[in-house]
Amino acid sequence: MSFLTPVLVAVVCILIVWIYKSADRRLQRKKEGTPTPPWVDEDLKDTTDPQQAEEDADEWPEVEESVELIPYYHTRYPEEEMATRSREFYELLRQRRSVRSISEEQVPMEVIENVIKAAGTAPSGAHTEPWTFVVVKDPVVKHKIREIIEEEEEINYMKRMGRRWVTDLKKLRTNWIKEYLDTAPVLILIFKQVHGFAENGRRKVHYYNEISVSIACGILLSALQNAGLVTVTTTPLNCGPRLRVLLDRPTNEKLLVLLPVGYPGKEALVPNLSRKALDQIMVTV
Ligand SMILES: Cc1cc2nc3c(=O)[nH]c(=O)nc-3n(C[C@H](O)[C@H](O)[C@H](O)COP(=O)(O)O)c2cc1C
Ligand SMILES: *[C@@H]1O[C@H](CO)[C@@H](O)[C@H](O)[C@H]1NC(C)=O
Repeated sequence: MSFLTPVLVAVVCILIVWIYKSADRRLQRKKEGTPTPPWVDEDLKDTTDPQQAEEDADEWPEVEESVELIPYYHTRYPEEEMATRSREFYELLRQRRSVRSISEEQVPMEVIENVIKAAGTAPSGAHTEPWTFVVVKDPVVKHKIREIIEEEEEINYMKRMGRRWVTDLKKLRTNWIKEYLDTAPVLILIFKQVHGFAENGRRKVHYYNEISVSIACGILLSALQNAGLVTVTTTPLNCGPRLRVLLDRPTNEKLLVLLPVGYPGKEALVPNLSRKALDQIMVTV
């Protein structure tokens, strides 16, 4: 019996260690949740604690209650004119394409100001207007932005493609070379404010901030098209924090979209895409 005791002690020890380890692993998994797919930008997650934010948000309903009501002025068009206007607007937006070759030619700043004013008319959750449009014209800053994005993109490609692709990276290099970040006369970086600040310095909840800013981006794209400028919608993966620091934006702002804006490059090419027909996108009940 006595010669068995050390064996028993060893077995019990191993068991204890095993139970502890597996519990730890389970806890770890719980903490991490389901693994995030590579195209999900960690930085875009809103880490605001909704409970805490709700408690902090005592400013908000007060404002809502005290806003004065005024008559709404409406322009009514004859039906025929409605049809014409809607058709013409569609014809305009139909011409919009993502253009990845942008000329160095300067654009009038008044136009940029107007398209951003248009974007700022977007509806937003509880009228929080949770957006910041950073307009970059400085060639030095544009180049720094390019360096950050190309560097991160290279890491994205390497990580996602795995070791087998690394040897082929030279061939693929063009995939993360983004010349338009230097050539476009203007870069518009759209930040969503995941929360705001009340006058007393406490956090103010920005309800549905990502939906609100996305709507503003849609209006901005339409306004650019209307003004005769081109862009390409880009979502620089994992670049948010570095670009935020570079542009001196506060931590409650997260980069959502980057738009290089200008005139199309000479002989710019676009993929020959077709869009879904109405009966594929519209269901009438
Ligand atoms: C949310 C979003 C992210 C996009 N990200 C990129 C991008 O990072 N790089 C790029 O070249 N195009 C990007 N695009 C552009 C799409 O590829 C393009 O809109 C699509 O191919 C349709 O072409 P069109 O814009 O010419 O209609 C993005 C578009 C959206 C809406
Ligand atoms: C684009 O593709 C469509 C359908 O495949 C074709 O009919 C059209 O001619 C193409 N456009 C150009 C400019 O090549």
